[in-house]
Amino acid sequence: MILDEAGSLTGRVFVLDDVDGALTREAIRQGADVRAWCDDVREQARLPRAHVAESGSSPDWVPDTVLWRLPRSVSGVEDTAEVLAGWLAPASRVVAGARVKHMTPAQNTALSRSFAQVSASLGRQKSRVLHATCARPMPPRWPTRRYVPEVDLTVLSRGDVFNTNRLDDGTHLLLRTLGRVLPTPPARPPSVPTAGVAIDFGCGSGIIATWLAVRGFAVTGIDVSQQALASTRLTAAANRVAVGTRRSDGFGRTPAASADLIVSNPPFHQGAAKDSTPTFEMIRRAGEVLRPGGELWLVFNSHLPYLPALRAGVGVTTIEARDRTYIVTRSLKQPDCPEG
Ligand SMILES: C[S@@+](CC[C@H](N)C(=O)[O-])C[C@H]1O[C@@H](n2cnc3c(N)ncnc32)[C@H](O)[C@@H]1O
Repeated sequence: MILDEAGSLTGRVFVLDDVDGALTREAIRQGADVRAWCDDVREQARLPRAHVAESGSSPDWVPDTVLWRLPRSVSGVEDTAEVLAGWLAPASRVVAGARVKHMTPAQNTALSRSFAQVSASLGRQKSRVLHATCARPMPPRWPTRRYVPEVDLTVLSRGDVFNTNRLDDGTHLLLRTLGRVLPTPPARPPSVPTAGVAIDFGCGSGIIATWLAVRGFAVTGIDVSQQALASTRLTAAANRVAVGTRRSDGFGRTPAASADLIVSNPPFHQGAAKDSTPTFEMIRRAGEVLRPGGELWLVFNSHLPYLPALRAGVGVTTIEARDRTYIVTRSLKQPDCPEG
């Protein structure tokens, strides 16, 4: 429907968050000068490689048309619309679509803040398209910043990040529980990390990664999302600690036996669909990535069936906390036994 509504594609076409590469391939077929970008590295891997943009926007190549598969979150629409409006010419047009069940009028409002003309198509085949033109750059609202007293951190977030700059209830339970076994953080974050090597898997806004860095860990945040990693870097900087970031589906090339601690509020969705596959894969790989004696701490919805996988993939697993919704687990990678 996005292609139907866009009509013929000529000139410079930028394709944003094209889940399966179909929009990009059609624009190439029509002879347009095409660049494409996906926030999620898994979706980006499906794009024709020669057409992947180096970053979300580049000042020396301004598109005539943007084809955009809208995110579900209004904040994600608002943030990206701001970035587009700062980049596009007034005559550039945006053709953005999604399933009707994932769209709300608030998305039109979010687009209207950055584009003077916004109109909606009629719905068809359960989908709808928004047309936007006359970009009008506004003072950006994103990334947003919030002080979160429960964890004594300032959190910054881009718009399409899990829970943006708020503290998720599960993450809160996880950090409260882990905080009981880690030493109290020093008054000022240490200049050299001495507590060990830690990974925040699925780092989102970087709350967990930054919380660990404040406690003296050398931390890497891993996420599929470019917006998540950008947010993690901003959150770490706002709290005056260093956190490394890696955009990867799962642990990727993380070396075996390289981490003392892995902490995660793991993914339970891919796009709109519930999907535990990445978490099962993460648990399996965590057993390799942890050093002997290292620990994996997770929080998850208590109905999710991760306990057998944790025991098989990592080692002895205990439930450290539980509330009405979540459990927090601690899994110990078996230390090496001395010979004899
Ligand atoms: C439940 S959120 C947790 C975010 C953050 N750690 C927090 O506690 O607020 C899960 C995160 O995992 C990321 N994610 C999803 N699938 C992933 C995968 N296969 N590999 C790495 N990260 C993934 C998502 O982008 C999201 O940021």
